[in-house]
Amino acid sequence: MVRQPTNHSKKAILTLLYEHQEEFLSGQKISELIGCSRTAVWKHIQSLLEEGFLIESVQKKGYKLMQSPDGLNEAEVAAGLKTNRLGRTICFYESIGSTQKEALRLADEGAEDGTVVLTNEQTNGRGRLGHTWQSQRNTNIAMSMILRPGLPIEETPQLTLLTAVAAADVIEKVTGLACGIKWPNDILYDGKKLVGILTELQAEATYVKAVVIGIGINVNGDPSSLPEPLQHVAGSLQSITGKRYELAPLIQNFFEFFETLYTTYLQNGFQSIRPLWEQRALNLGKLIKVRQPGGRILEGIASGINNEGVLLLRKKDGTLAKVYSADIEWE
Ligand code: BTN
Repeated sequence: MVRQPTNHSKKAILTLLYEHQEEFLSGQKISELIGCSRTAVWKHIQSLLEEGFLIESVQKKGYKLMQSPDGLNEAEVAAGLKTNRLGRTICFYESIGSTQKEALRLADEGAEDGTVVLTNEQTNGRGRLGHTWQSQRNTNIAMSMILRPGLPIEETPQLTLLTAVAAADVIEKVTGLACGIKWPNDILYDGKKLVGILTELQAEATYVKAVVIGIGINVNGDPSSLPEPLQHVAGSLQSITGKRYELAPLIQNFFEFFETLYTTYLQNGFQSIRPLWEQRALNLGKLIKVRQPGGRILEGIASGINNEGVLLLRKKDGTLAKVYSADIEWE
């Protein structure tokens, strides 16, 4: 696991350069804004050049960021981010086994609400119900958010549905693709999965200490390079639209959409989110097959979700079953 060097001033300089990409920033101005000497500014710029950033330097004008190396970095996501809490602390890793595992560890150590673990490469990604999650280096988004909403355990599935709404809204805003949600939280377009969401809890009896929500978004990856059978079920924004997308603005938009919905949810409850989820639901009213953990299979009509975010399945005998966790299929 390689942790990106986190020199605070260097990161702050890079954030400033991202925020002023249209203009030159003088060494003097940078040193005043960051609170370090001009010599220190110069040294940090040299170090950024060595890392592969292309920074134009013109006498009497200053510095201008022209190009970044491949992949994400923390400063780019921080530049111009408009959230209050979400993503204000980013733990960035060039490569990591699973952002989810790391976020759970950090949550246990007391990481604050809104902290995000983000990486350019996830080598051992975890999916729902024991599945794995493949994410290609520098092409897709893999991140985990640590939240401390102070909710009772039974209400936490609602956050999974809220996350799916935020992800679908962002994809629609950035790409124009109107995606649907397969219960509880797979984002699909034309039957292809674009986003996977995994919600895990740190809880004691009835009290939730932290909720960790992991999100994988297939952005610029090539699904045909995935192993079977994934290449037939996965899609990516690029494979569908033929366009390449910058990762940092997508993440920033996601943080902003999520935080707005989350604030509404904490103030007004799940009833403010439920209709948004239902508008995008792909399987409501359909005959579905539900494969529960442990292998139990149920069949019936997906008749809706209740206020806890649980799927309601109308079985052939007319009774209603509550489905808390499962893989579902339909024709
Ligand atoms: C699914 O099975 O659909 C959920 C996939 C969740 C993948 C994300 S990628 C970021 C985070 N880290 C992980 O190890 N998993 C989640």
